[in-house]
Amino acid sequence: MTGRPDPAGAAQELVRLVSEHERWRESCLNLVAAENVMSPQAQALLASDLASRYGDYVGRDLAARKYFGTTVMVEIEVLVDELLRMLFDVQFVEARPLSGHVAGVGAVLALTEPGDLVLELDSPGGGHRIAEKLNATHHARLEVLPLPFDPEMYSIDVGRTVELARARRPRMIILGSSLFLFPHPLVELAAALAGQPETLIAYDASHVLGLVAGHRFQDPLREGAALVWASTHKIFPGPPGGLVLTGSQAIMDRVSPAIYPGLVTNHNPGRMPALGVAAAEMLAFGEAYADAIIANAQRLGAEIDARDVPVVGRERGYTSSHTLLLPVAEFGSAREVGERLESAGIISTATRLPPMLGEAGIRLGLQEVTRRGATPEDMPLIADAISDVLTGRQTSETVRGRTRVLAAKLGGIGFCFDSAAAPATS
Ligand SMILES: Cc1ncc(COP(=O)(O)O)c(C=O)c1O
Repeated sequence: MTGRPDPAGAAQELVRLVSEHERWRESCLNLVAAENVMSPQAQALLASDLASRYGDYVGRDLAARKYFGTTVMVEIEVLVDELLRMLFDVQFVEARPLSGHVAGVGAVLALTEPGDLVLELDSPGGGHRIAEKLNATHHARLEVLPLPFDPEMYSIDVGRTVELARARRPRMIILGSSLFLFPHPLVELAAALAGQPETLIAYDASHVLGLVAGHRFQDPLREGAALVWASTHKIFPGPPGGLVLTGSQAIMDRVSPAIYPGLVTNHNPGRMPALGVAAAEMLAFGEAYADAIIANAQRLGAEIDARDVPVVGRERGYTSSHTLLLPVAEFGSAREVGERLESAGIISTATRLPPMLGEAGIRLGLQEVTRRGATPEDMPLIADAISDVLTGRQTSETVRGRTRVLAAKLGGIGFCFDSAAAPATS
């Protein structure tokens, strides 16, 4: 649209563009490891009257609302809080962060002082790099060092991390990754640093919260993390938002005011019922959901590897999560390869891998297609499509016809109370 838009026409155009986007996405294999689909029930609740209301509350008292008109909202949020505490078996949940990043920023600001040392994964190791990003403002002045990473094991090098932590005594160690194939050695790290109480171990579960909820992958709070923060919309199939979880009153007493009113005033109460429904779904179906995701990811890793496309982590079974990483340097830059996949109807993420893996990487996530009904038997067809595009055996246009058929088969939504079946295909 060029020139000054006619307002009513522009509004109509936006409606049309959204349905175009939805039709196109439904025709693709969505393999972005950071995205998901909500159940129809959760999705519908996002459009309630709550979406345009304020619900600020002061401190940790969910009933201490600044605004009138919030009586039922309090009941809703108390129930959501109960569901989340039950799901994660934790005493304190702060659900007001508007995203995983905001949750992590609140925790880092609350629990460090200017000049403190923070250890976190760097970019090729998959770190979201909250401390480094905070240093982009002149208000936060943290010393940030990368966590020692072992690219062969594709995990944190626990020996070198302990050595560094004992020598430098950081204020915080942030575990967690955007390229999260295998559990971090949290038990070993926590045991080695047990005599060093000034070092807090935090765990960014943004990428694996749905697996943690399903009692798979790892249990960071029981394994030694003092607190967890996470997004609620990646593997956890909720609306966009963030959480902080901890069993420590002292930690929550510091983190909570950093979130509200430090970083968030309107916490967007419209997302809370959908968050509660996602938590209820994970209580009821979380274990089956996590098992199905991991089985699909491991099978797809093996099938892609068998088609002459390298996959990180072969010796360890490719993955213990929803994620697969493909080193693609031999096929082009990560960006070019991602674009070719997109033309073929396969939505992935271009990423940077450690130098010994050739740097150019494609990240795939199996949670969304699993939620839409994919099983290990579907993985050979997905692997064919991916490997045909990467190796150039077939053009993206040719493969596109096959991904449309696959996506049509995966049009339902499962692991929820109102499972939608895939529409019948002709
Ligand atoms: C490990 C990790 N932590 C935090 C975030 C930020 O989460 P959000 O997008 O919810 O702010 C991301 C983002 O993708 C991430 O990968």
